[in-house]
Amino acid sequence: MISIEKWRFSWTLVATVASVLTLVSVVHLFLFPLVPSFDYFTARQQIQNSCVPIKESAEGVTNRVWENSPPQLNLDHRFPADLHNAVVYRNAPWKAEIGRWLSGCDSVAKEVDLVEMIGGKSCKSDCSGQGVCNHELGQCRCFHGFRGKGCSERIHFQCNFPKTPELPYGRWVVSICPTHCDTTRAMCFCGEGTKYPNRPVAEACGFQVNLPSQPGAPKSTDWAKADLDNIFTTNGSKPGWCNVDPEEAYALKVQFKEECDCKYDGLLGQFCEVPVSSTCVNQCSGHGHCRGGFCQCDNGWYGVDCSIPSVMSSMSEWPQWLRPAHIDIPINANITGNLVNLNAVVKKKRPLVYVYDLPPEFNSLLLEGRHYKLECVNRIYNEKNETLWTDMLYGSQMAFYESILASPHRTLNGEEADFFFVPVLDSCIITRADDAPHLSAQEHRGLRSSLTLEFYKKAYEHIIEHYPYWNRTSGRDHIWVLAMPLRRYGTA
Ligand SMILES: *[C@@H]1O[C@H](CO)[C@@H](O)[C@H](O)[C@H]1NC(C)=O
Ligand SMILES: *[C@@H]1O[C@H](CO)[C@@H](O)[C@H](O)[C@H]1NC(C)=O
Ligand SMILES: *[C@@H]1O[C@H](CO)[C@@H](O)[C@H](O)[C@H]1NC(C)=O
Ligand SMILES: *[C@@H]1O[C@H](CO)[C@@H](O)[C@H](O)[C@H]1NC(C)=O
Repeated sequence: MISIEKWRFSWTLVATVASVLTLVSVVHLFLFPLVPSFDYFTARQQIQNSCVPIKESAEGVTNRVWENSPPQLNLDHRFPADLHNAVVYRNAPWKAEIGRWLSGCDSVAKEVDLVEMIGGKSCKSDCSGQGVCNHELGQCRCFHGFRGKGCSERIHFQCNFPKTPELPYGRWVVSICPTHCDTTRAMCFCGEGTKYPNRPVAEACGFQVNLPSQPGAPKSTDWAKADLDNIFTTNGSKPGWCNVDPEEAYALKVQFKEECDCKYDGLLGQFCEVPVSSTCVNQCSGHGHCRGGFCQCDNGWYGVDCSIPSVMSSMSEWPQWLRPAHIDIPINANITGNLVNLNAVVKKKRPLVYVYDLPPEFNSLLLEGRHYKLECVNRIYNEKNETLWTDMLYGSQMAFYESILASPHRTLNGEEADFFFVPVLDSCIITRADDAPHLSAQEHRGLRSSLTLEFYKKAYEHIIEHYPYWNRTSGRDHIWVLAMPLRRYGTA
């Protein structure tokens, strides 16, 4: 992981460090170990001299001190906290401490007038209600299980690996399923014919569990033998699952299988009977519905967190980073016919960061298809839909992504941007490599890091093919955030 402590100087420095770090890391990974370049140190010197930052440790705001006492920024006003100590940004909870250090150089930088393009392109068949339209590119971002230009094609993701005579449900994988496989996401449920068809049958739940041979030894699961007699039973004396009524079970009137639980996001309670919010990037910024990790944006909004307005949105709802905006509506704009892109002039401070809206296989789909709610996220929600922060290493990538998306330095104008953020949630790939056959690390001989590098390569190829920005600088102004628990990546 990249230590936040090291990055406490300024946003400019952070970005510089991040891009250098990325380069060095990539070189590390692809070629040979390399020491940081000379440029890195000179840049660091200059920035340190020209900008007085907030000094903050990874522990957060408690030990924040100012150097040379610059004017205090009223951050609490800008990022008000809710009852659960989560910052609410356009109705979306957001963690304050993370964003604060991004503001360190605000008072120093000068405002510029920036032309932001508000997208008006439409997508094929409006993405068939099975995806979100990127109105800048006119391309659909399809939900899990759908693909094609208008998201009209169905993809079937298997829960199980191919069966063999010894292993009728295939070899073990997290998604292994003896009951109903939802092939849009490769997730296992009770299915039709049971009292609770949408109740998950996750992993060991569906299989016979052998008691330990010696006392104290762990129980073992027999992945070759389904436990259908129990999970489908209506006999209250047997440890059931798919027909077990939560009230009766809580009152201990009937038995239930203890290996069954609610691993999937959006469900709590012993019997998965409590629907809760799932985790989405910035909780869809208040302009969409979080479908298990993928933001289903309201009409007029798009982007991984529904934070980008299209020409169909109401200007009064535009995010803070697009304000104050001045719009020139072209005289020949044909409001009734095909909508055109509009230009909005927004006052902004450098450095400006352009965040790629990559196809969802690099981010949203990895969140939507999660098999454990805690995988690669920085928070989940409790019974009252209150935020529970996880403090997990792999969640740091999501936290960083959310901060950049809501940062006042964000721009939609790639021509003016100083930095380019590549949102690849590789921490999801790393944690999810065993989730389901379609994510299999098989071709990578089980090496998660190799699977992840393949992912970075795909993102790179997508960027150089579809955008002009990488080639101009050979990617030197591109920011990648790696969240790997390997020391050498963090100390580059
Ligand atoms: C329910 O299961 C118990 C224990 O396996 C068994 O003794 C009993 O006969 C079953 N009852 C019915 C109605 O099948
Ligand atoms: C929490 O959110 C879920 C999903 O949006 C909703 O179904 C549920 O009713 C909410 N629970 C509470 C206590 O508000
Ligand atoms: C506006 O668009 C509609 C539909 O595309 C078209 O029929 C109409 O001629 C256009 N009007 C002008 C003034 O361009
Ligand atoms: C960027 O360079 C690569 C490799 O030289 C090339 O394949 C690609 O088409 C270029 N991209 C653009 C948008 O020009």
